Amino acid sequence: MGGQGGVSTLALVLVLGWALGGGANCPERELQRREEEANVVLTGTVEEIMNVDPVHHTYSCKVRVWRYLKGKDIVTHEILLDGGNKVVIGGFGDPLICDNQVSTGDTRIFFVNPAPQYMWPAHRNELMLNSSLMRITLRNLEEVEHCVEGAECPRLLSYGAQLSWQADSSEKMDYPNPNLG
Ligand SMILES: *[C@@H]1O[C@H](CO)[C@@H](O)[C@H](O)[C@H]1NC(C)=O
Repeated sequence: MGGQGGVSTLALVLVLGWALGGGANCPERELQRREEEANVVLTGTVEEIMNVDPVHHTYSCKVRVWRYLKGKDIVTHEILLDGGNKVVIGGFGDPLICDNQVSTGDTRIFFVNPAPQYMWPAHRNELMLNSSLMRITLRNLEEVEHCVEGAECPRLLSYGAQLSWQADSSEKMDYPNPNLG
């Protein structure tokens, strides 16, 4: 097989894998459950992709944090970087998570937990992605905030419903970084 054929086959496999892993067929858990399982929920912008695992295609990202929606006190100073406004989040590409891919410059809502000890030392002082990335829209922020505040989560979030909200660009907010994807 020629080198070029190999490259395009690889590209096809990667695209298919992405489509299957991140597509609408992946059932997302309810927002309430996602909020309960994540001890930290924050908004932030991906600044750097790091520690790409060549076998599992997982990676970590350095993320500039804009706001904690939940669990600020759980983020200890060992986890904080660069004067306290950045963290490293691991677990991107985790096949157990539907929407698990980011690029540099993406701003998202992240549902994370401090890395458990069995993941040390590789993920020591990292936060681990716990469920799908969420786009920043006014409605998504409000829904997450309602859940965090302990109110009834206003609706049972399915991934399909989430996608249709995302399509409503009128709900996009002015955020410091315009790359909301
Ligand atoms: C999310 O966190 C919960 C603990 O709150 C854990 O049981 C679960 O395995 C985590 N999910 C992933 C995909 O890491």
